[in-house]
Amino acid sequence: MNKKTYYITTPIYYPSANLHIGNTYTTVAADAIARFKRLTGYETFFLTGTDEHGQKIQRLAEGKGITPIEYVDEIVAGIKELWKMMNVSYDKFIRTTEDYHIEAVQKIFKQLYDQGDIYKSEYEGLYCTPCESFWTETQLVDGKCPDCGRPVEKTKEEAYFFKMSKYADSLIEYIENHPEFIQPESRKNEMLNNFLRPGLQDLCVSRTSFNWGIPVTFDEKHVIYVWIDALANYATALGFQNSNDELYKKFWPANVHLVGKDILRFHTIYWPIMLMALGQPLPKQVFGHGWLLVDGGKMSKSKGNVVDPVTLVKHFGTDAVRYYLLHEIPFGQDGLYTSEIFIKKTNSDLANDLGNLVNRTIAMVHKYFDGIIQAPNAKEAIDEELIKVALEAPTKVEGRMDALKLPEALDEIWAVVRRSNKYIDETMPWVLAKAEDKKERLGTVLYNLIESLRIISVMLSAFLPETSEKINRQLNASKTTWDSLVSFDGTEAGTKVGEGEVIFPRIDVEKKLEELAKLQENQKKEAAVKNTEMKPIKSEITIEDFEKIDLRVVKVLACEPVKKADKLLKLKVDLGGEERQVISGIAKYYKPEELVGKYVVLVANLKPVKLKGELSQGMILAASDDKDKLFAVNPGELSTGSIVK
Ligand code: MSP
Repeated sequence: MNKKTYYITTPIYYPSANLHIGNTYTTVAADAIARFKRLTGYETFFLTGTDEHGQKIQRLAEGKGITPIEYVDEIVAGIKELWKMMNVSYDKFIRTTEDYHIEAVQKIFKQLYDQGDIYKSEYEGLYCTPCESFWTETQLVDGKCPDCGRPVEKTKEEAYFFKMSKYADSLIEYIENHPEFIQPESRKNEMLNNFLRPGLQDLCVSRTSFNWGIPVTFDEKHVIYVWIDALANYATALGFQNSNDELYKKFWPANVHLVGKDILRFHTIYWPIMLMALGQPLPKQVFGHGWLLVDGGKMSKSKGNVVDPVTLVKHFGTDAVRYYLLHEIPFGQDGLYTSEIFIKKTNSDLANDLGNLVNRTIAMVHKYFDGIIQAPNAKEAIDEELIKVALEAPTKVEGRMDALKLPEALDEIWAVVRRSNKYIDETMPWVLAKAEDKKERLGTVLYNLIESLRIISVMLSAFLPETSEKINRQLNASKTTWDSLVSFDGTEAGTKVGEGEVIFPRIDVEKKLEELAKLQENQKKEAAVKNTEMKPIKSEITIEDFEKIDLRVVKVLACEPVKKADKLLKLKVDLGGEERQVISGIAKYYKPEELVGKYVVLVANLKPVKLKGELSQGMILAASDDKDKLFAVNPGELSTGSIVK
């Protein structure tokens, strides 16, 4: 009989910078689900990867003076390292720059064009030339480019469009008839009411303003819109539109696409419509999880409040981080990261509850029976409750996992952990050990604890794989399958337990918090330095280009404000034998009298223009941080007319 299959995906990440704990959250959650499905008998395929095209990556690479592929290669290597560190068991890592993906996306685009779903037209929008970006009226900030603050122009660009509108009604019907398709429920209503029901516009699916993307095969100056390229990964990774599509046949449609709430729209509108147009089945579910917030806000590199998973793992170990992510964030809602809660939870749930249970149990088997597990021949009524809790747990955990309720699944496991600790308090093995005639009862109590731990450890293997292995080593358990959890007798009497090993050392909260605070402080400082350094570098020019600019030292002879223009000053400057009038937007930074007598640098061959009715014959060079500081460039007191080069 064929095994049941299960296909789960994470978003593919932009390799524009190293990933933070927020991205790690999605992948760790997907990993726990994938591991759980494997454990419970599904043939599972778990996909993750990177979304490597687009203008942002092209710019970042240009800024560093390297090619885009060189830029992403380095970051992708880091991402793979991170997943290794987090124990992420993906079956495939897709990179959108790989040939098979590129070819498949080109075929998809061509098919949609041939069947009339993609057509060529003109994109009309507000364009910021230095940023090469189109904006809509509502995206502008004070009527200017939201990225750089410069003015935008109305522009037209030739582009391809996808007839989204044609499929909108079918999609609405599909969503209404498949209540499980968009989860959680609240997000489904948001998609229907905010996006689909008001009417869908056709989507612009090509760009000509940059070239780091997949070219349209029949019109090479266009590259395919990065979201079309990216969404297709879920199918191309399995061989869709490729000669070997066995995996696609086996695993498509996906059981679940796990995504952050910010990209739910792309996955529940654009992607299903693409699939409908291609005549392919839709994924069974798209689950939009919440944000991991820090200090009440979103993590961002520029704020310097990014929590680095590598640092946390180095300080606390992989499973402490996995536990926090899987247990402390209500799946589907926003959750908060604070180092204090993280450390306290690690201490209480992992070091105290679980760690102590393992420690005490193994130590007692060593102490009272030289490490040999005894047969449970002296049962008592008090055992029944522990056995019941342990045997009911797997079904409960499975139910929670089917509903993707990860924290609740862990709660079900911890119910067994806590019940077992209570059982130690109730049975008091150290008292039993004092009476010779209680030896058999003591052996039974310890058997029950070991068997509970075996059940806990098997269930935990999906969530905290490393911890589960450590526990197994100590139990020396031979039965570790899900099926072995149906009865309370999987531990073999006569087995010698392994050496005791502390699985979660207790953390000194104050000391660690101080250490982490210091690290965070340094990170903030670095971010502050970067923020001033990291303005994108413009495209390369040659020395010939530069030499076209004639820069001269001039002396300011007179200066006054320009009427009805509070930002402008009117300067009269001496260019060494010639006087010029220059209008300069520096009134916010200089009083007119401060400039008189100063030597500054003039762009002397700039085409004259009229500003507020006044002629401006050149431009004064100034350096500014774009916030509140500006200084006119000071050439020293060289004779006027000297060349700056
Ligand atoms: N490349 C696109 C996805 C394409 S999928 C076909 C993308 N990449 S991303 O790197 O910006 O984000 C990837 C995922 O990380 C998104 O699901 C996003 O929601 C998630 N997260 C980014 N920051 C996050 C938090 N702080 N918390 C939780 N998830 C976060 O979008």
